[in-house]
Amino acid sequence: KRLILVGPPGCGKGTQSPILKEQHCLCHLATGDMLRAAVAAQTPLGLMAKQTMEKGQLVSDDLVIGIIDEAIQKPSCKKGFILDGFPRTVAQAEKLDAMLSKQGVKVDKVLNFEIPDSVLEERITGRWVHPPSGRSYHTKFAPPKVPGRDDVTGEPLIQRKDDTAEVLKSRLDGFHKQTKPVIDYYTTKGVVVRLQAEKPPQEVTVAISKTL
Ligand code: AP5
Ligand code: ZN
Repeated sequence: KRLILVGPPGCGKGTQSPILKEQHCLCHLATGDMLRAAVAAQTPLGLMAKQTMEKGQLVSDDLVIGIIDEAIQKPSCKKGFILDGFPRTVAQAEKLDAMLSKQGVKVDKVLNFEIPDSVLEERITGRWVHPPSGRSYHTKFAPPKVPGRDDVTGEPLIQRKDDTAEVLKSRLDGFHKQTKPVIDYYTTKGVVVRLQAEKPPQEVTVAISKTL
């Protein structure tokens, strides 16, 4: 299966992806996670992306298209993948279609995480993440067993630099202006599945399983 997860910051893409990955043996490609790893490692890509990400703006289409083009050609992604946070512009979606048609495949489903903007600030400002694994926690909705520590490794959790109420505003603005058209793009292709993403995480997981 080739799936795309789309929705605003904090809608639950990164929470549902690892579960889907396990259930369906898919590779999980999260452009945000990949970019943050590049920033942390201070690679040329990371140096280019850092400030844009901290401002809550989208990095250039060419940068992320390059990352995805390389990743989806890996043998481990040939059987299927979950794209989390990509495509986010219509230009990215068109490029993805072109890459996939070269391989003779296409996107099977686009899971649209529908959620009111009003609940996102609390989700974003309460989030703590474990960068090496991508696991996220929430002080209220998904607290770690030991505060500030990853449940599996015990390593420290961090807060993302862009997880402030202020930066969230520009991230949300970008979502409405640049990413909503991506949902329209796939709606005309008949592959969009709507999810009520404000429900508890377990209910969202069940809803996704039913559609797949
Ligand atoms: P990215 O990392 O993709 O961030 P995002 O899209 O803003 O999404 P988030 O990771 O914030 O939200 P999520 O949906 O994964 O939420 P989560 O499951 O963690 O991108 C970051 C930046 O990178 C961009 O701003 C841009 O600069 C750049 N970038 C990335 N991709 C790009 C692209 N394609 N093109 C250009 N630039 C790109 O959940 C959030 C919190 O809520 C957690 O604490 C979680 O525990 C909790 N939670 C989850 N589900 C529930 C639930 N059902 N009920 C209650 N709480 C819940
Ligand atoms: Zn995420």
